[in-house]
Amino acid sequence: MSGGVSVDWSLDGKVAIVTGAAPGGIGETYARTLAAAGAAVVCADIREDGAAKVAAGLEAEGHRAIGVGVDITDPDSVESMTGTAASAFGGVDVLVNNAALMATVHPGPVLECDYGHWKHVMDVNLNGAYLCSRSVVPYMRERGGGRIVNQTSGGAYPPSTLYGITKLALVGLTTTLARDLGPSRITANAIAPGMVESDAGKGLVPEGSAFREMISQVAAMQPFAEPEELAGTLLLLTTPAGNWITGQVIHVDGGWILRP
Ligand SMILES: NC(=O)c1ccc[n+]([C@@H]2O[C@H](COP(=O)([O-])OP(=O)(O)OC[C@H]3O[C@@H](n4cnc5c(N)ncnc54)[C@H](O)[C@@H]3O)[C@@H](O)[C@H]2O)c1
Repeated sequence: MSGGVSVDWSLDGKVAIVTGAAPGGIGETYARTLAAAGAAVVCADIREDGAAKVAAGLEAEGHRAIGVGVDITDPDSVESMTGTAASAFGGVDVLVNNAALMATVHPGPVLECDYGHWKHVMDVNLNGAYLCSRSVVPYMRERGGGRIVNQTSGGAYPPSTLYGITKLALVGLTTTLARDLGPSRITANAIAPGMVESDAGKGLVPEGSAFREMISQVAAMQPFAEPEELAGTLLLLTTPAGNWITGQVIHVDGGWILRP
């Protein structure tokens, strides 16, 4: 065998939906990453103004993008988001289930959290990804395949809070979807970041805090990532470069998972 190996990292002609794509979050970076790779991007968030702002920024840079307000816990709202994506750009190829509750989730012992709160967090962090996945699959089948990427967390390994429980459940959804949708050439994978310096992440683990210090000492590498440091993994899981990867969780965490 001779000659170089050509790897296709392009999303030219593809349509991607990113949930939780308001400014200052990882979703914004994901939307920018997919747009830069050539996709038309639907920026979706419960903060409709924020989604519109990120989409307008992409359009101003010459990309194809729209902002959509969505509440991922509401099946009708989710169907409307997917329908809007398909009518704007002709279909759906990629779904990034990134929207979630994190900073506002009860951080203490789970038996001490309010049951209404428990159900709401499950609704957003797990059921929302389920509803969005269910909604896009018929469109992906029409296109002959697709990619689903679920944003889980190092906090799921092992879970010690309600947040961690939802993120481990999302891993279960990922592997189940991978098995069910493989025959339709739809892959399902998850990204498990460690600590990410989004606006929300910085608020949770502020500079100079004892928690930040402790994390820094036990990770294999510096564990705090800029959102951009997740971009390469997202591209691997959404472009032809990764078309044979399914049912996997990729830890992008500077070795946080290796902590003793
Ligand atoms: N920041 C970190 O350290 C970190 C680490 C691991 C995993 N994560 C995960 O990455 C993702 C993004 O986190 P982030 O740091 O950007 O936080 P973030 O709070 O900025 O992002 C979450 C987004 O989801 C949106 N959202 C919330 N409820 C919604 C609903 N019902 N419908 C639609 N949109 C809704 C919010 O408006 C927000 O824009 C989340 O899934 C989070 O759990 C973050």
